[in-house]
Amino acid sequence: MDGRHHEPLTEQLADDAFPHDDPFPLYEALRAAGPLVWNATGGYWVASRHAEVTAVGADATRFCSGRGILTFEIGVDYPSPPTMMHTDPPAHTRYRSLVQPAFGRRVVRALEPTIRAAAARLIAQVRTNESIDIVTDLAAILPVQVIGMILGIPEAEWDRVWAWSEASIPGTDTWSDPERRNALRAEMTAELAELVASARLAPRHDVISQLVHEDLDGDRLSDDELAMFLNQLLVAGNETTRNAISGGLVAFSEHPGEWGRLVEDRARVDTATDEILRWTTPVIAFMRTATVDTVVGGVPVAAGDPVLMLYASANRDEDEFGSDAGTFRIDRSPNHHVAFGFGPHFCLGAALARLEIAATLDALIDAGVTTIDAVGPVQRSRSTIIAGVTNAPLVLRTR
Ligand code: HEM
Repeated sequence: MDGRHHEPLTEQLADDAFPHDDPFPLYEALRAAGPLVWNATGGYWVASRHAEVTAVGADATRFCSGRGILTFEIGVDYPSPPTMMHTDPPAHTRYRSLVQPAFGRRVVRALEPTIRAAAARLIAQVRTNESIDIVTDLAAILPVQVIGMILGIPEAEWDRVWAWSEASIPGTDTWSDPERRNALRAEMTAELAELVASARLAPRHDVISQLVHEDLDGDRLSDDELAMFLNQLLVAGNETTRNAISGGLVAFSEHPGEWGRLVEDRARVDTATDEILRWTTPVIAFMRTATVDTVVGGVPVAAGDPVLMLYASANRDEDEFGSDAGTFRIDRSPNHHVAFGFGPHFCLGAALARLEIAATLDALIDAGVTTIDAVGPVQRSRSTIIAGVTNAPLVLRTR
């Protein structure tokens, strides 16, 4: 039996219908509607429960990334993959082996003192006991500094990094201005190409130099592969981490008891970091395409069918997180959230992102912040891919 009857709820996942300010009732209704539901308008399945999102994400053989990871890519035929996320084994496995060493645990541990110092410097400059915009005054700064630092982008150009990454994300303000978007993307590509060329001549202590010289049994990334990867890195590591930090601090303002519990016992910073990731889920959804006729959650899926994995919904699934899945709880453990995806494409920068969030929380505690208060409405991003806060007036109180 073909289970493809259109589920009207899925219409709300479209750009102009998406309930950006509070999508969680929609997610709950989608989870109740079934393990997989069909969107006839776009021609794709929606997986909104944790079990099916992880089943699809885990299996790169039955579900490929090469035919697009976003619904607007359905039917698009790329001459070459636009990002590493669009590759499948064996190309993905090779790619991953070449770039993984630059993001390994040892590298992140070595960066820790620098990132913690940057977070402390940032928080020392942020005004306390008066209203600030948590995005521009705080959350946007550290991810840009860290990406700038690890890529070896000169400090004077760090303010361009935000503009470059905005120009690469569908749904942001810059995206809607094609001329400006193309100009910014060209500027970013030129800057990255220059950094690659100079690293070839004289290696520095940064990720670009490591990637240029990384050698796996004589195999290396080509210039085109390097350019594609660096482009992606700059975007993947910036917007997402910023939204986790801003969304996390907004969550604390909405759950004042939780900030107090964290200040009381800072050993909870690690579990709090993962709860922030679950709660904010900065990447709302990615897609796969079935390579064979198969079955997911008891529903038959035909070869060629796209399946959207709704991470933001899976992260509130009561079957995985229990009856308090809809509660922000900093000591949640276990916490098998899928904010970083699941399976072979699991986020390469997860350790780095966790460190940036934890360093921010620690720096705020060190600065004596006792409460985080909302003093105005929170504005959320209009994107259906990235869940984010665009503006939130908060007060960090130290007295
Ligand atoms: C809170 C912050 C972040 C979130 C929520 C996030 C989320 C994700 C998700 C959901 C994926 C899975 C893609 C897929 O399955 O197709 C992913 C992959 C990836 N992320 Fe992140 N990310 C974050 C931070 C970072 C950082 C800091 C970096 C690097 C500096 C980074 C680099 C990457 C790369 C390169 C991939 C592709 C991995 C692959 O295809 O094998 N991310 N990320």
